[in-house]
Amino acid sequence: MSHTILIGAQWGDEGKGKVIDVLAQKSDYIVRYQGGNNAGHTVRIASNKFVLHHIPSGILNPKSRCIIGNGVVLDLDAFFDEVKMLESRGVSVRGRLFVSDRAHIIFPYHRLLDQLREERKGAGKIGTTKRGIGPCYADKASRLGIRICDLLNPRVFQRRLAEALEEKNELLKKIYHYKPYSFEALHKSYAFLRSKIKPFVCDTHLLLEEAGRKKKRILFEGAQGTLLDLDHGTYPYVTSSSATAGGAISGSGVNPSKIDGVIGVVKAYTTRVGEGPFPTVFPKALLKKIQTLGEEFGATTGRPRRCGWFDAVVVRHAVCVNGLTKVAVMKLDVLDTLPEIKIGVAYQCQKKKIYHFPADLEILEKAVPIYETMPGWQTPTTAARKVGDLPKNARNYLLRLEQLIGVPIWIISVGSDRSQTIVVNGKL
Ligand code: GDP
Ligand code: IMO
Ligand code: MG
Repeated sequence: MSHTILIGAQWGDEGKGKVIDVLAQKSDYIVRYQGGNNAGHTVRIASNKFVLHHIPSGILNPKSRCIIGNGVVLDLDAFFDEVKMLESRGVSVRGRLFVSDRAHIIFPYHRLLDQLREERKGAGKIGTTKRGIGPCYADKASRLGIRICDLLNPRVFQRRLAEALEEKNELLKKIYHYKPYSFEALHKSYAFLRSKIKPFVCDTHLLLEEAGRKKKRILFEGAQGTLLDLDHGTYPYVTSSSATAGGAISGSGVNPSKIDGVIGVVKAYTTRVGEGPFPTVFPKALLKKIQTLGEEFGATTGRPRRCGWFDAVVVRHAVCVNGLTKVAVMKLDVLDTLPEIKIGVAYQCQKKKIYHFPADLEILEKAVPIYETMPGWQTPTTAARKVGDLPKNARNYLLRLEQLIGVPIWIISVGSDRSQTIVVNGKL
């Protein structure tokens, strides 16, 4: 396959970073197309752990070139911190990391507004990462945003920043009783960032077009997950971008007819960080156990993730809206000690049994999952390297997942290291 999209098929943190790292070794380009530094993609190579927020995880493969596409919102300070972190650890980025001139910039007032809005909402908060993602995309949609190319043009930047601050400062003073930003101070600090970002910037969709003509292999690295997608997720408990496969097209400018595969990444169970409904959440004791075994603490904010059983209704929704062609099942090893394992197969909504994911959150909040129970395997799987090494009950569990979601399982992950990966050749 030459143009592959990889997306999260649950609520994010499925293990996309690890799969990207594995696939990067066969990819010429890796492209981020939405979200910003709200993402936290972990890659473990032997004893080295990298957490990437802005820069595609493929950067760790020295032969790949990486692109931050037009659909991404970029926090320049966070971006340069990440560049510095990578360079200090021996990963060179210069000349192989490209940033779209059309990407929108996250400004300090976006971060502040994200925080103030959450505080104001109190119990009704979204549980955002407070990275300014929502306010930045809101400005993009209301045509008050400032793009990288605008920053590069001093005349345009001066005007756009003045316009943006006029509105933001009013909002800060009148609604939030907060002190306004100084135009001069912001203008000065971004003039400095202008010269720093310049060497990374280009018209990235042209780069992709050229790569396509040269038959290069391109991998689109989704951030967040389908249930956090602005359109297809559990609105309003979502992020503000298109985290589904469609986002790869608009967020990179790639020719849509070139896409020849969409890989969905799922955990062998489900997790969610932030607020919002979660039908198959574990009871308390099991929640604590899986949180510990799976190290389920956010890679970006360190918050504990809620954990629950695999929800086939959620993943079928993801299969449908992303057109998944194959699936990677991650963290199977985390279930190794359980005597029995449940799978949510449908929801009971009062007298109705439903098999699709409802849009109405009131319905979802009241939905009672209908479970199938399977015997556990109670054997370590972390050393398995081929399907035949897995215990029979683990294979049966995976087979049942495959049947329920209707898409072949192609990768099984049994540990966080690169090497702890099983590629399914043929049948499970
Ligand atoms: P992403 O946002 O989808 O890239 O996922 P995160 O990096 O936020 O979270 C996934 C976490 O699970 C990371 O700490 C990974 O190192 C870890 N991980 C990935 N695959 C496996 C696996 O198969 N087993 C275990 N135990 N951990 C894994
Ligand atoms: P990766 O790419 C998990 C969640 C936040 C919150 C909601 C909105 O690592 O899978 P935002 O700051 O985006 O406005 O927050 O989305 N969220 C994520 N949850 N993984 C992520 O990224 C996430 N990025 C945002 O917790 O519920
Ligand atoms: Mg993550």
